[in-house]
Amino acid sequence: MRVLVTGGAGFIGSHVVEALTARGHEAVVFDLCDGHDVRSPQAVASMLPGVDAVCHQAAMVGLGTRFSDAADYVSHNDLGTAVLLTAMADAGLRRLVLAGSMVVYGEGSYACERHGPVRPGPRAVADLDAGRFEPRCPDCGEKLMPGLVGEDAPVDPRNVYATTKLTQEHLAAAWARSTGGSAVSLRYHNVYGPRMPRDTPYAGVASFFRSALARGEAPRVFEDGGQRRDFVHVRDVSAANVAALESEPPEGSLTAYNTGSGDPHTVGEMARALAAAYGGPEPVVTGEYRLGDVRHITADSSRLRAGLGWKADVEFTEGMREFATSKLRGEQ
Ligand SMILES: NC(=O)c1ccc[n+]([C@@H]2O[C@H](COP(=O)([O-])OP(=O)(O)OC[C@H]3O[C@@H](n4cnc5c(N)ncnc54)[C@H](O)[C@@H]3O)[C@@H](O)[C@H]2O)c1
Ligand SMILES: [Zn+2]
Repeated sequence: MRVLVTGGAGFIGSHVVEALTARGHEAVVFDLCDGHDVRSPQAVASMLPGVDAVCHQAAMVGLGTRFSDAADYVSHNDLGTAVLLTAMADAGLRRLVLAGSMVVYGEGSYACERHGPVRPGPRAVADLDAGRFEPRCPDCGEKLMPGLVGEDAPVDPRNVYATTKLTQEHLAAAWARSTGGSAVSLRYHNVYGPRMPRDTPYAGVASFFRSALARGEAPRVFEDGGQRRDFVHVRDVSAANVAALESEPPEGSLTAYNTGSGDPHTVGEMARALAAAYGGPEPVVTGEYRLGDVRHITADSSRLRAGLGWKADVEFTEGMREFATSKLRGEQ
């Protein structure tokens, strides 16, 4: 199969290219860093002849620094996806695998002892300032138990980036309906591993910690370190992309799959595992917070395991040990 990998020069895209090649497929890289912009109809159209499927990884990522990034996120992620899908429709190309994200769920899934499943709203600044990081039951104000979020959970994007990732899915679903194409969205959880970009305001937490260690500094853990996440290795994510590309998904709609390791850890545990593996200073818990962050978000990835026969292979401690000594992108 010949696959156009948008964002193929990026962190995850470059691993997808390797995984496709290893399976005997041909991967064609399409990335802004080589001057190929998904927002350019001509650039996209010129790459599609002979292509069997598109694996759309290109996006502006991360939480960003300020609201004024909004137009850039919407432009790269949503206009870019619309242009790409238009070119695919014109070329009669019917297969899309999209890099989705767990950010579409907002604050994960919770249960109150008295009220059962509840959906807490965004955390109040006053609570965060006072170090009250755990969301409370909207009905009784009591503590909640975090649970695993499934694909049918309501979506609730909490920041601009999350909004654009959700819109990408809606655009892909509309494209599938009107062309009879098949679309799969792999909703990645926290991806880490070799070639992760070094720390910028757009990077993931594993990269912040790894970059601090490389400077000889202690990883700085926000809130109280108890935030739960599903850290999934980039090789497992690229394997999920290959499995999705090789599958026969339903036509005319979008199928979403959580893509997580199934082995949740707190951010504090991740910092300690990484610091220990690196042989660096113990993490420092700072109590700082970022307003757009959610407290806990952990995946139920059983649909992906059942539907595509995929499973995560890289175990947490082992993955962190490798990540501690592997090179970050942009690192000297
Ligand atoms: N890293 C994670 O933990 C994570 C989690 C959930 C979802 N995702 C998604 O995975 C995908 C890949 O992310 P990544 O972590 O590899 O980030 P990355 O920044 O390393 O890769 C993104 C690539 O897309 C390219 N790109 C950006 N805008 C483009 C445009 N307009 N035209 C062409 N190329 C463009 C960039 O040059 C870059 O090489 C993104 O869609 C992201 O939203 C990542
Ligand atoms: Zn309650």
